[in-house]
Amino acid sequence: MILSLPPAAPTLAYGLARLRAEFPIVAEWAYLNHAGISPLARRVSAAMQSMLDASAWAFVDWGMERFRAFPEEARATVARLIHAAPNEIAWVQNTSIGLNLIAQSLPLQPGDNVLVCNMEFPSNVYPWLNLGRRGVEVRLLPPDGGGLSLAAVEAHADTRTRVVTTSAVQFLTGYRTDLAALGEFCRARNLYFVVDGIQSLGHIPMDVRAYHIDFLATGALKSLMGPPGQGFLYIRRERLEELQPVFAGPISVVDWEKWLDYNLTFRPEAARFEQGTYNWVGLAGMIEAIQMLLELGLENIDRWTCHLSGLLMEDLERHGYRLLSNRDPRYRSAIVSFAVPGAPEAAFERLKAARVMVAVREGYLRVSSHCYNTEEEIARICEVLGPARRKGMSS
Ligand SMILES: Cc1ncc(COP(=O)(O)O)c(C=O)c1O
Repeated sequence: MILSLPPAAPTLAYGLARLRAEFPIVAEWAYLNHAGISPLARRVSAAMQSMLDASAWAFVDWGMERFRAFPEEARATVARLIHAAPNEIAWVQNTSIGLNLIAQSLPLQPGDNVLVCNMEFPSNVYPWLNLGRRGVEVRLLPPDGGGLSLAAVEAHADTRTRVVTTSAVQFLTGYRTDLAALGEFCRARNLYFVVDGIQSLGHIPMDVRAYHIDFLATGALKSLMGPPGQGFLYIRRERLEELQPVFAGPISVVDWEKWLDYNLTFRPEAARFEQGTYNWVGLAGMIEAIQMLLELGLENIDRWTCHLSGLLMEDLERHGYRLLSNRDPRYRSAIVSFAVPGAPEAAFERLKAARVMVAVREGYLRVSSHCYNTEEEIARICEVLGPARRKGMSS
């Protein structure tokens, strides 16, 4: 008999016990729904609380200079995360806003087409479908291995293709998109390459320059472990002048503090896509969360969460479950989805009763880990669910 050994645990470059002390949720839950919403680390809550405290005093003790400087200085932290320049970062509330801003501002003509996978989360589909009234065609490509592949893009692109858009990690299958290959394809043909980073940025190292990404949008609440309602948009500086900003507000323009000048000259950086007052509390939380992730090291987080996914995949297969997620380590992420016999909601409830939190998506159970999860927590899934065919049912 050939013994199948679990993959060797990578040596963790950070202390798991110390990190877990940052997350109050671990005392009560094996929390495995980070693709839905991440719990806040204590230091993230504290950063937001101190911004709230400053707010309670109208920032008078902070001083107006510091108040104004914070959103500007914060751009450098995001830039470091994705290997961009601070002036390529704009603040937005969420992924959908960022992607809509790009879709509406691109110089697309009737008859141009946009390529997107037909399993993409709707945040990255509706903004493009909404261009239909301008005669832009959206080509919904079949998934290949769990997401958008280069082969699918090659097969569906033609001379009128202008945009390739994809999530870096697919929300349901967890498919890790080959951004390098797609980016190179787009670069060679001068296509716009748009990426939704919400399921990857806090899990997997990102280099927008290396992947030739033109636009990247995200919210903070999932892989970035930040608060809901805060996100950012990256705009490659070489593409800025090709976009016609669809909105304009007081802070979109140069010399914006000359309130009554009404000089509609857009700022020379990505911030021209911002319109009005920022969310200081949300920004404080997102920046603190990104700092924490940078300290842990994105390569370390990636290695650890993929290790946990590998363990779970083996465990699930041993227990007779059918995986939706790709087994190939090249396409693996922190998300693992699988089918259960019978109603997935019943399995979800059993896990929940055992204080294991996962998610049900599209009829599958979706498990999504993060930097602080343990092998023991991952093992709880099959401990609670037991073998798939226990009642003579097949998955
Ligand atoms: C791939 C992907 N994009 C976007 C979102 C959410 O978009 P938004 O930040 O606009 O709420 C989700 C949420 O599940 C997602 O999985």
